[in-house]
Amino acid sequence: MPEQDTITAPLSWFGRFKALPVDSTPKTIFVAVVLCLFCSMIVAAAAVSLRPTQGANKLRDKQVNILQVAGLYAQGVDVGTVFASFEPRIVDMKTGMFTDMFDAATFDDRAASSDPELSTELKDDPAMIGRQSNFTTVYLLKNSDGSLDKVILPIYGYGLWSTLYGFIALEENGNDIFGLQFYEHAETPGLGAEVDNPRWKAQWSGKSLRDGDGSLLIQVAKGTGPEKHHVDALAGATLTSNGVDNLVKFWMGEAGFAPFLRNLTAGEA
Ligand SMILES: Cc1cc2nc3c(=O)[nH]c(=O)nc-3n(C[C@H](O)[C@H](O)[C@H](O)COP(=O)(O)O)c2cc1C
Repeated sequence: MPEQDTITAPLSWFGRFKALPVDSTPKTIFVAVVLCLFCSMIVAAAAVSLRPTQGANKLRDKQVNILQVAGLYAQGVDVGTVFASFEPRIVDMKTGMFTDMFDAATFDDRAASSDPELSTELKDDPAMIGRQSNFTTVYLLKNSDGSLDKVILPIYGYGLWSTLYGFIALEENGNDIFGLQFYEHAETPGLGAEVDNPRWKAQWSGKSLRDGDGSLLIQVAKGTGPEKHHVDALAGATLTSNGVDNLVKFWMGEAGFAPFLRNLTAGEA
């Protein structure tokens, strides 16, 4: 008997794909792509769902730093409650006066410093920040009788590898330093990151920005300097120290908070 030919329908692309061995290149690529998509969906979902928590943590971190520089932080303290004793205000940096143009509780200083509408490009830029916001949030700490106890000012500028962000706390006279600390930077641990060392930070307490004539004398430098105004540079980290010297002088100077501090202490801000 003659053999009967079997006629098979041509396979679709899916059928051909299914028929491939499991360790074939197309199937390996397919599994890798599906896995990547699945993982990226999980990462995206986690990023979106954690955003509010990250925002809250960032805010709390900033508040902790303000409490620390003002000497009001202790382990276990209710940060929100203590922070409520500060009065955030926006300063117009051009006039050195308070302004109510923005809500101080929600004003985003960092966003403002890169917004061309709200900031000014710096020609003379010792702190190496590029643009300076025209408006800055400061924090007032008052005594029970309403008089000023301390003012907390944000400061930032470039070190060796990174921009250092921090706060300086000044006494009610706008001249004596209560404390200074950075809460964000990427300087090298053991070298530039020693700006976080409590022993180095402690040097700032009790120093004065200006002398009796109003000259800005605060300095971070190697060796010795005027006792009331000198902070020792970090050993092995002169470049970060120079950055701190530059940024403190910039923010405490005429282009920074000097006009505001004059107005504040004269009761005219
Ligand atoms: C890997 C590496 C990381 C460094 N990180 C820093 C730093 O964060 N800040 C800094 O001022 N110097 C840093 N330095 C050292 C500087 O290059 C420079 O030698 C130093 O600032 C000079 O300080 P001195 O005069 O006190 O020795 C680093 C050096 C190396 C090799």
